[in-house]
Amino acid sequence: MRQQLEDIGVKALALIQKADSLKELEELRVMFLGKKGELTRILRRMGDVPADQRPIIGKAANQARDAIEAAVEKRKRELEAREQEQRLREEAIDVTLPGRPVPAGGKHPLQVVTEEIENIFLGMGFEIARGPEVELDYYNFEALNIPRDHPARDMQDSFYISDDILLRTHTSPVQIRAMRARAPRLPVRVIAPGRVYRRDDDVTHSPMFHQVEGIYVDQGISMADLKGVLLAFAREMYGEKTEIRMRPSYFPFTEPSAEVDVSCTMCRSQGCRACGFSGWLEILGAGMVHPRVLENGGYNPEEVSGFAFGMGIERIAMLKYGIDDIRLFFQNDLRFLKQFT
Ligand code: PHE
Repeated sequence: MRQQLEDIGVKALALIQKADSLKELEELRVMFLGKKGELTRILRRMGDVPADQRPIIGKAANQARDAIEAAVEKRKRELEAREQEQRLREEAIDVTLPGRPVPAGGKHPLQVVTEEIENIFLGMGFEIARGPEVELDYYNFEALNIPRDHPARDMQDSFYISDDILLRTHTSPVQIRAMRARAPRLPVRVIAPGRVYRRDDDVTHSPMFHQVEGIYVDQGISMADLKGVLLAFAREMYGEKTEIRMRPSYFPFTEPSAEVDVSCTMCRSQGCRACGFSGWLEILGAGMVHPRVLENGGYNPEEVSGFAFGMGIERIAMLKYGIDDIRLFFQNDLRFLKQFT
């Protein structure tokens, strides 16, 4: 038995020394020291050993166990050290490498232009108001003096959701909402930027586009105030030398109504392709708020008057940056968008 113990010890130490992984080492430990291990099996037979031999065999068995345990521990530390070293080598971080830049987003050109417009009007004392994009027919048309069968509805081919609800075709419904939210207080002086929807789709028309509405109601507001405000706006937007021109027009919700042009930003009114060799570019519709619209907003047209205007933001941006296709705004091509950040 003593010989057996010695053999096991020698065999175990040799195998343990050669173990090449922690898993293999654990298997060896179980093989020799486990409940069914070789050493345990021998110790179970101690009962067969004559009494005078037991202390000697017992001592040899303990020595063998201690030696195996020590060998396992030693090999375990070696293998662990090797594993950690390998991990460090694999995961090595080169702190001298340049960092990976986090790509920074930028504002969409329409957002840039919208904020520019907002800031110009904020500077003139206007507040910013907003209204819903899914709008009642009443606010979008009826309250703006466009009855159901009025031919003016043809100017704005609409997306209807039901007989009474549609996607707003312009920001003008916010005129009514802004007046009603304030009446009878004065002044009403707000701009309303936002999305609008029409059944149009070509290089200069998109079924979804953006407008900024403006309305100013107070005692004694006149067409001169309208012209002054729009001239100040045009000069801040397009430069000191910009001129504006008003041409008679028609909108059901303003009377009188006007189309407003700015002197061509491309050719300084010399005449070019952009302005059709006229020297002028149309940028918005405007007029004096119709008495019936003032009434629908909760004001007495005998006591107050007001002007209103509405401009297309895409058009303003296209003129400012010389963009010739409105669809570029909505294709989200970074080569286009990056030019404005
Ligand atoms: N809502 C008109 C349009 O979309 C523009 C406009 C607004 C005209 C306010 C006059 C006054 O065409």
